[in-house]
Amino acid sequence: MAEAEIGVIGGSGFYSFLDDVTEVTVDTPYGPPSDSLFVGEIAGRSVAFLPRHGRGHHLAPHRINYRANLWALRSLGVRQVLGPSAVGGLRPEYGPGTLLVPDQLVDRTKSRVQTYFDGEPLPDGSVPNVVHLTFADPYCPTGRVAALGAASGRDWEPIDGGTLVVIEGPRFSTRAESRWHAAQGWSVVGMTGHPEAVLARELSLCYTSLTLVTDLDAGTETGEGVSHEEVLKVFGENISRLREVLFDTVGALPSNEERGCRCADAHQGWDLGIELP
Ligand code: ADE
Repeated sequence: MAEAEIGVIGGSGFYSFLDDVTEVTVDTPYGPPSDSLFVGEIAGRSVAFLPRHGRGHHLAPHRINYRANLWALRSLGVRQVLGPSAVGGLRPEYGPGTLLVPDQLVDRTKSRVQTYFDGEPLPDGSVPNVVHLTFADPYCPTGRVAALGAASGRDWEPIDGGTLVVIEGPRFSTRAESRWHAAQGWSVVGMTGHPEAVLARELSLCYTSLTLVTDLDAGTETGEGVSHEEVLKVFGENISRLREVLFDTVGALPSNEERGCRCADAHQGWDLGIELP
């Protein structure tokens, strides 16, 4: 099977990333991931791309098998993951086309499995232990610096830090919800950032979120409210520069062996009860 060291999970409107790829089908104890994994090379680094919603966007955010996606990436050898996604801006100054690299996360989802370590037996009979990991800082500090530097290097001045609030979807927020999110001081709103980041942490993967603002959320704008067409249109308009930033970010990441952050060591001595791939 093809191997990869870095994973990229593409968001809405992001269905292909690399031109010269090997398509790999991976199964996991949690079922199949959103799609095949597409393995190719960037700057001498081997990268696996996975379209988060599946090719053609057939998976709603709450139906994505996040556990299978991260597990599949890890089973190819991936230890560092970049997660671009479309988000709504919660401040007037974060308009469409803003690139924000969050440093915090708020979970307002309702129905998603957010752990591998729930004591439920796996199909092979192994039983994960119940494990409680530290998650105060949800994102990889090294990956964040790499992404920020890559964006600045492409003259796309990014917002360094901010809070991504993740809603259940698939509907967008009401104006009242949106105003409440903004009043909390949160920066951007999306539908897929959770549980991706926490599952990555549970697998000791570095995870970096790159959020592309495609619209001002309902409480911040005065128009008709957010529409999916608007999200896809703005994402499409920005996809080639986002791709360049992701390429440069990949090139700036350390090798998996040289990861100096604490993500690699997230288990802090916990006995997981199962073997990670
Ligand atoms: N994705 C893109 N725009 C969004 C918004 N306004 N709310 C939630 N998810 C989004």
